[in-house]
Amino acid sequence: MKVLVTGGAGYIGSHTLLQLLRERHDAMVFDNFSNSSPEALKRVKQLANADFEICEGDIQDACRLNEAFGDFKPEVVIHFAGLKAVGESNEKPIEYYAQNVSGSIELLKAMQRHDCRHIVFSSSATVYGEAEYLPYDEDHPLRPTNPYGRTKYFIEEIIRDWVASWRHASAVLLRYFNPVGADASGRIGEDPNGIPNNLVPYIAQVAVGRLQHLNVFGADYDTRDGTGERDYIHVEDLARAHLAAIQFEPTKSGCEAINIGTGRSTTVLEMVKAFEQASGRAVPYQIEPRRDGDVAHSLAAVGKAERLLGWQAKLDVDDMCRTTWDWQSENPSGYSPD
Ligand code: NAD
Ligand code: UFG
Repeated sequence: MKVLVTGGAGYIGSHTLLQLLRERHDAMVFDNFSNSSPEALKRVKQLANADFEICEGDIQDACRLNEAFGDFKPEVVIHFAGLKAVGESNEKPIEYYAQNVSGSIELLKAMQRHDCRHIVFSSSATVYGEAEYLPYDEDHPLRPTNPYGRTKYFIEEIIRDWVASWRHASAVLLRYFNPVGADASGRIGEDPNGIPNNLVPYIAQVAVGRLQHLNVFGADYDTRDGTGERDYIHVEDLARAHLAAIQFEPTKSGCEAINIGTGRSTTVLEMVKAFEQASGRAVPYQIEPRRDGDVAHSLAAVGKAERLLGWQAKLDVDDMCRTTWDWQSENPSGYSPD
């Protein structure tokens, strides 16, 4: 298929692009490189031994989108582009609404103008908000608790309305749980700017010696060992879910929201232990107060992904730690030259 990948140079986009190319799809990446490096695309090209097109542009720019759609004529869009930091979204909500919501509207307009009928959208488990019950299934009420989460919620609703208004359109809204890990080659991986907000990239930087110790945010939760429990999903499994989603034809409503997780949870301290084992390095930590806005547990119900996409996660926490360590130890400064 001809697949336009917005945000294809980013963490999840680059891993998905690699699988698309390996499966012989034609791809064009549309990215403004605001949170990524062209080096990631160079490496994907080498790993896949296949070429693809690159259009540097912002999804808020209708002219640039028109050029990309006109040149490439995609059959489907995988839409990763957007801003994703929860804390930053509280400080700059309008920037988040502009880039994520307005950008997605421009993208949908361009799709319709160019008769491109299927979209796979990167949503997040954050749309659920505080759990009324666990695991979260796709019918759980949606009550996001921060501007970033609300952009995902609004985009989901906008896509639903777009699909309902255009007989030919269809959409898959993938609600990711906690993506971690890297490609088995160790050549591409997550390369956060500055000090990482998320657990696994932070642990990796402690293990490689860039940071001194991990701050564990809360050890007094009602969980197995008092630290936060999350459903971590390997980025390679996540990428595979996108390949299933581009082929999927939602029949009833034309639009389906689908959780992408493993259905298993890991605490912060369990992750520390697994990472120490995978890396052979110590990960010193200190218990700190809870982080504002954090929940104790998050866990995906995964039955719908299995039923509709025929997809299920294959990789476990040890794979997540091993591949993260391979990437981090071989590229201690990420894509920047050391
Ligand atoms: P990322 O920041 O690594 O990738 C996003 C890419 O989009 C980057 O290459 C960036 O340069 C590009 N981009 C950003 N704004 C753009 C714009 N206005 N126009 C064009 N390109 C733009 O993030 P990621 O971790 O790969 O996440 C991809 C998607 O998945 C995001 O939409 C994110 O919200 C969603 N998501 C991520 C997580 C996670 O934990 N990583 C969890 C749930 C959902
Ligand atoms: N944690 C620490 N120390 C750190 C970082 C995290 O103890 O330095 C803990 C957190 O308190 C939490 C767990 O590790 O218990 C996971 O935290 P992350 O920041 O890695 O992930 P979150 O579940 O908080 O958030 C992630 C994404 C959000 C997304 C959410 C739900 O960052 O964008 O998953 O999908 F919305």
